[in-house]
Amino acid sequence: MAEMKCVGVIGAGQMGSGIAQLAATSGLEVWLMDADRDVLSRATAAISSSVKRFVSKGLISKEVGDDAMHRLRLTSNLEDLSSADIIVEAIVESEDIKKKLFKDLDGIAKSSAILASNTSSISITRLASATKRPSQVIGMHFMNPPPIMKLVEIIRGADTSEETFIATKALAERFGKTTVCSQDYAGFVVNRILMPMINEAFHTLYTGVASKEDIDSGMKHGTNHPMGPLELADLIGLDVCLSVMKVLHEGLGDSKYAPCPLLVQYVDAGRLGRKRGVGVYDYRKATQKPSPRL
Ligand code: NAI
Repeated sequence: MAEMKCVGVIGAGQMGSGIAQLAATSGLEVWLMDADRDVLSRATAAISSSVKRFVSKGLISKEVGDDAMHRLRLTSNLEDLSSADIIVEAIVESEDIKKKLFKDLDGIAKSSAILASNTSSISITRLASATKRPSQVIGMHFMNPPPIMKLVEIIRGADTSEETFIATKALAERFGKTTVCSQDYAGFVVNRILMPMINEAFHTLYTGVASKEDIDSGMKHGTNHPMGPLELADLIGLDVCLSVMKVLHEGLGDSKYAPCPLLVQYVDAGRLGRKRGVGVYDYRKATQKPSPRL
């Protein structure tokens, strides 16, 4: 496969904006698409200030930073992604919505293009089945925030070709990432292990074993985790955590994966975490902790 020159990213939320930033600072042309124009303007501001912080910390040169902002194009028209060599979707974690997107992309993307999903948990094989190019569909699971976190988990669907896998791995390495390869089973590797731990932290809070601060402090100082599980859930988004637990529960068929009622209730109440200003913690208060995004 020829070297990739243009990357399309769909969904300009926390993950998509970070993936677009990575691609642009790695010297690729980028189209960032979102159905919501306000999200696109917020994403440009977030990317621009993050790139400036990378420059001021000496992690990238000013030239690379300026160049990245010129390489980034924003759109709310899916058809603009027809020139992309790979399209990475980071839209809402819903199988039906993602499948519809993959079907539409199959008709728009050039025939050689790879269609990748940043899904936290949805089956790549099922997303691929919505297209006529299942050998070119793959999971490219970035961690949050993408410009900082080192790992990209690459998920091979039942029909993903070796060529697609090699090209996707090479792209992740061009972004400076470490990759691991997972087969396509619910939760893949990282969320299969991480989300039950977060869910258990909610149970610990729900059953009154300890306060949220003590649960987080216990895990930070007792197991050397950089963040407590409840803080991490707020960073990831409680809606994302809940949908991953539902996928694990359904996909692996074991009641140990049932989402904690408190997690369900917070999501019902719109307490989705940092992105909404309130989750387990309230970030609207003056004592708010700074975002870990550079
Ligand atoms: P988000 O809610 O911040 O952003 C999603 C964006 O997609 C929104 O801006 C929305 O306007 C847009 N969107 C929704 N449907 C669309 C469509 N049909 N076409 C175009 N744009 C559309 O969500 P976030 O957190 O960035 O997650 C996105 C994906 O990344 C999900 O699949 C999630 O599971 C996955 N993920 C999330 C992580 C996290 O820590 N938040 C970590 C790794 C993966």
